[in-house]
Amino acid sequence: MAESRRRVWVSQPLFDDIIGRLGEYFDVRGAAEVQAYTAAQIAAHLRGSDGAVVTLNERIGAAEIADAPRLKAIANVGVGYNNLDIPALDAAGIVATNTPDVLTETTADFGFALLMATARRITEAERWLRDGQWRQWSFSSMLGVDLHGSTLGILGMGRIGQGIARRAAGFGMRVLYHNRHRVDAAIERECHAGYVDFDTLLASSDHLVLVLPYSPAVHHLIDAAALAKMKPTATLVNIARGGLIDEPALAQALSRGHLAAAGLDVYEGEPDVRPELLALRNVVLTPHIASASLDTRRGMVSLAVDNLIAALGEGPDAGRPATPINPGVLAIAGGDRKTTAIKR
Ligand code: GLV
Repeated sequence: MAESRRRVWVSQPLFDDIIGRLGEYFDVRGAAEVQAYTAAQIAAHLRGSDGAVVTLNERIGAAEIADAPRLKAIANVGVGYNNLDIPALDAAGIVATNTPDVLTETTADFGFALLMATARRITEAERWLRDGQWRQWSFSSMLGVDLHGSTLGILGMGRIGQGIARRAAGFGMRVLYHNRHRVDAAIERECHAGYVDFDTLLASSDHLVLVLPYSPAVHHLIDAAALAKMKPTATLVNIARGGLIDEPALAQALSRGHLAAAGLDVYEGEPDVRPELLALRNVVLTPHIASASLDTRRGMVSLAVDNLIAALGEGPDAGRPATPINPGVLAIAGGDRKTTAIKR
């Protein structure tokens, strides 16, 4: 009897034409509608699956994979992967992949757009206009903060941070950055960016953009003490992860005039946004859309699909997914996890 095809699960509706490529190799089970899953529902979907394409909304840890003996690969559609418990996947011999590079420039574009909207009060001004308040205009209505000639601080000088720095040069901004490791001198020169310590970055930035990966080690890195070190005229933009900021402390700083404005694309409890943030006029709020251009979102899904096909030992790059997160684990199709796990 012919062996049945291996099964993959696609957690959300993505782009059908791109997801369709999986059908050449696998039996594909996909969600027909956008879903918010419980851990038990994710576990049930993974139970009979050999691989999965998931988004940042699906948390996958030890509990979700405990009863998924066939699972060999998880392709995350996103560059950040704090939704995945990598040590748990490592221990189970499951390879995980993400989607870096394809979203770098689009995300840097958006970081700059959010920075401009925040500094120049664009969404607040639009609300004011729509609310019919223009007749109350005065010469000091909607005064913002300049970008040109100001100091931009970048916290996290990876690919996206560097993209933002390159854009800032066109605006005549001075760029400072802080990163876990100082980047190469050639990158600093190309980005016209100077390395400073964390406290100097906080104190010197007229605009501070967060672009660093989230991990428990940087949970609430921007807390009340950090905010107190910033200029009261400064703006803060977060396109990384909500957990980097102590949101009640931020709301307090914004409402008390200890910080001019903030632009947030990410939230600790997203899709829920704290009422104290929603109530503020000096915060621009967007729903985690930094990578959301059509071409880039298609590119992310395409990379995730190619990664999954390769990670499950099929296609032209069989066994060699382009962007593995835990390359020490190679899940070879049909192989036994314990014997195919390779130490990093
Ligand atoms: C978006 O936040 C991503 O990590 O891709």
